[in-house]
Amino acid sequence: MIHHVVAKGINEDVIILLHGTGGNENDLLTLSNYIAKDATKIGIRGRILESGMPRYFKRLSPGVFDIENLIEETHWLKQTIDTLLDQYELKNKHLHVLGYSNGANIASSLNFYYPELFKTSLLFHPMMPFETFDYPSLKHQNIFIAAGKNDPIVPHEQTIELATIYQKYGAHVDVFWSYSGHQITQASILEAHQFFQKINPST
Ligand code: MLT
Repeated sequence: MIHHVVAKGINEDVIILLHGTGGNENDLLTLSNYIAKDATKIGIRGRILESGMPRYFKRLSPGVFDIENLIEETHWLKQTIDTLLDQYELKNKHLHVLGYSNGANIASSLNFYYPELFKTSLLFHPMMPFETFDYPSLKHQNIFIAAGKNDPIVPHEQTIELATIYQKYGAHVDVFWSYSGHQITQASILEAHQFFQKINPST
């Protein structure tokens, strides 16, 4: 069973919502309405449980990922997205992703394995998913990264390294820094909204 929620919109955009550790499929619905109110949203719950908290992949310790499991769950998530797009007759729409923390990390993994899947990625407090990767061209991708100067979970260098990788392989990248910790701020939601509207002007 896929735990998910669908909020049908009125335009051609579909945004996949990926929550943080301990969250669920509903968490980012309200926030995503501030960013793209007319888009269809699909929230998908991660199927890994860590002490009862849903996640998208296993970790060995905070910030240390179980790479084998990350790869397995990345492919599971891709299949799940395909299944849901079929089920709700949303194939051929413009697909985007909004991820927070653990959800943002697997969103980057999806971007690296399936570089043509998402047109826009809104990544709130992401980390580097892989230390090394044979990166494909990422030139179809538009990446917004929201980072916190006081984020206790994501070191500054990781934010910069991630943005540099996306840029190096051809993506269009904007990084927005706030003085926050690991939480999503109002200012970053506003910036994400502006980025999304710039890339997808009809929405
Ligand atoms: C992760 O495990 O994906 C990151 O450490 C973020 C988190 O979920 O705390």
